[in-house]
Amino acid sequence: METVLRGQSFAVEISGVDLSRDLSNAEFDDIKRIWLEHKIAVFRGQEIGDNALVAFTERFGPLFVHFRSQFNDQTRPEIMLISNIKEDGRNLGELGDGDLMWHSDQAYSELPVFSTLLYGIEVPNEGGGTWFCDTAGAYAALPEAMKQRIAGLRQSFSVEKTVTTQNITLSEEQRQMKPPVQHPLVRTHPLLGRKSLYLSPAHTAGINGVDAAEGDALLGELLEWATQPEFLYHHDWRVGDLVMWDNTSTMHSRDAFSPTERRMLKRTGFEFTPEQAVPV
Ligand SMILES: [Fe+2]
Repeated sequence: METVLRGQSFAVEISGVDLSRDLSNAEFDDIKRIWLEHKIAVFRGQEIGDNALVAFTERFGPLFVHFRSQFNDQTRPEIMLISNIKEDGRNLGELGDGDLMWHSDQAYSELPVFSTLLYGIEVPNEGGGTWFCDTAGAYAALPEAMKQRIAGLRQSFSVEKTVTTQNITLSEEQRQMKPPVQHPLVRTHPLLGRKSLYLSPAHTAGINGVDAAEGDALLGELLEWATQPEFLYHHDWRVGDLVMWDNTSTMHSRDAFSPTERRMLKRTGFEFTPEQAVPV
């Protein structure tokens, strides 16, 4: 197993490992440690069936099943299809071909998902890349005065925003399942104690106790800070790539791609225990 850093401070590519086979405990523990430290792990050239993908995901923690179930795999609901491909006029997956705003997955949930894994089945020749931002590195580098200013602040997140920011449709029942929630602006990793900016512009509905204009200005300032080049990694997808990230310490966005191109990714995720999952 070899590792190469892909971002300036985070995002590591791990090579020499075949995720389709049973990993030894020692190999698995190495992967988990390296991933936790670097927040994003990239594996290339993988050939993983659905069962192996789910088994690898589940080894880290309880499987996540997306509440917007219309694009979950029929036989394996732990796998969600992310795709712009249509067959017989019907979308095979979710999220289309447009760009997607910065977000941390399921920040609008009371207990947001710990990690998301994306596995590339078909990828466009151009576009459709994923940007990752190291929000823990961005927090650590903040001026002390800003750290003090934002300490203790809480923000509201709403799934409603995704209808416009992520081009998503929600049924009335799905809306009812996800009422607005409040989470801290600075989040502490429950396993590592590492602090990060908990930013998810695609879901943010404002900072509590701060007027809207001031809250928006502060969030805008933090977003600009966090998205400086030293905190970013851009992933150009190839078939067989598997990328996994820690939603507590990163956020991501997507480049648009041409509707004439085909893109199909399989998504899984795993959760914290319920006690660890409450952002603090
Ligand atoms: Fe996402």
